[in-house]
Amino acid sequence: MELTFRNSEISYLIGENGAGKSTLLNILARIDKNYQGGIDDSFAVDEISLVDANPYMLKGDVYKNIVYPLKIRKRENIEESMTTLLDIFNLNTLKNKEASKLSSGETQKVAIVRALSFSPKLLMLDEPTANIYIY
Ligand SMILES: Nc1ncnc2c1ncn2[C@@H]1O[C@H](COP(=O)(O)OP(=O)(O)OP(=O)(O)O)[C@@H](O)[C@H]1O
Ligand SMILES: [Mg+2]
Repeated sequence: MELTFRNSEISYLIGENGAGKSTLLNILARIDKNYQGGIDDSFAVDEISLVDANPYMLKGDVYKNIVYPLKIRKRENIEESMTTLLDIFNLNTLKNKEASKLSSGETQKVAIVRALSFSPKLLMLDEPTANIYIY
């Protein structure tokens, strides 16, 4: 089996429970290193973003969580790029809320914003809409 992700394309991975979707995403994100087969790594590990089905939040507020990927990459103009993203996801009012106190849907949205913050070349979302109410 071979899987190719092309620039500017959206791919969907569909399969029954236990089929191995999350496992494959973890392998592609280089989190799971114990696998058979090969990855043609056109993407460096710090250009990939994976939003887990149950996202882990760092201790501290929402803002600390979403700027974390930018901080570790020593990016500048953090405030500017964050305001636009928070606006799009309607999360400005939650900016200073303790991340551990968010609802499941809020946590998922914060995790998506955090994943988008550094403009990854490959963005992978594991069940991204499971808790999201879209209106
Ligand atoms: N850490 C682990 N150790 C052993 N087996 C595991 C581990 N993680 C997952 N598995 C098994 O690997 C298989 C694939 O799991 P995976 O989580 O990738 O499925 P999935 O397609 O994402 O399912 P779902 O739709 O329920 O999220 C399952 O049978 C699961 O029990
Ligand atoms: Mg899964």
